[in-house]
Amino acid sequence: MEREATTSPEAPQPSRRSFLVGSSRLAMLAGLAAGYGALARIAARYLYPATEEPKQWLFVTELAAVPLGGSLRYVAPTGEPVAITRQGEAGVAADFVALSSTCPHLGCQVHWQAAEKRFFCPCHNGAFDPSGKAVSGPPADAGQALAAYPLKVEGGLLFIEVPVERVVQGSPGDRRGHGSHASRTVPETPADRTTRRRA
Ligand code: FES
Repeated sequence: MEREATTSPEAPQPSRRSFLVGSSRLAMLAGLAAGYGALARIAARYLYPATEEPKQWLFVTELAAVPLGGSLRYVAPTGEPVAITRQGEAGVAADFVALSSTCPHLGCQVHWQAAEKRFFCPCHNGAFDPSGKAVSGPPADAGQALAAYPLKVEGGLLFIEVPVERVVQGSPGDRRGHGSHASRTVPETPADRTTRRRA
């Protein structure tokens, strides 16, 4: 007499069993990968420690050359344009604010609007308060700010601390600046207010 094959309801079906085995293997592999990834990151940090970009204090201008509410455009040896505005008359570094002119949103050039006491980026109507914090437009939505540079005053002269390492790409005149840490200070003009995207 033939006997019917029976299966216990508790016994896992083959497909379910292989699914469980596969899942646990995947979990094990993921754990190993995460562990090795963390180890690799620690090793990379040990082998290639982050190096700070060298910086230097450079002369900008005489204090008297910038009137209260005024602004000047300074070009660092790296080629980075910096807007320096005067917001006080105490004759100290705190009177001034030095901010990158490069909008953190998509790299357009911002300019100082003295009447509105703000930096404005015409590309997408981004606006920044005098300290560089975005107050409207896409940079504000993203919680961005203009990069700030330290300033100091010595003997009635204003100095800025900026990175000096990167080679300046551009005209032979620009290249002359490399190595000597040359920089340029120019009064802000309407031409500066034209919008240009960063290359
Ligand atoms: S690039 Fe300045 S707001 Fe978009």
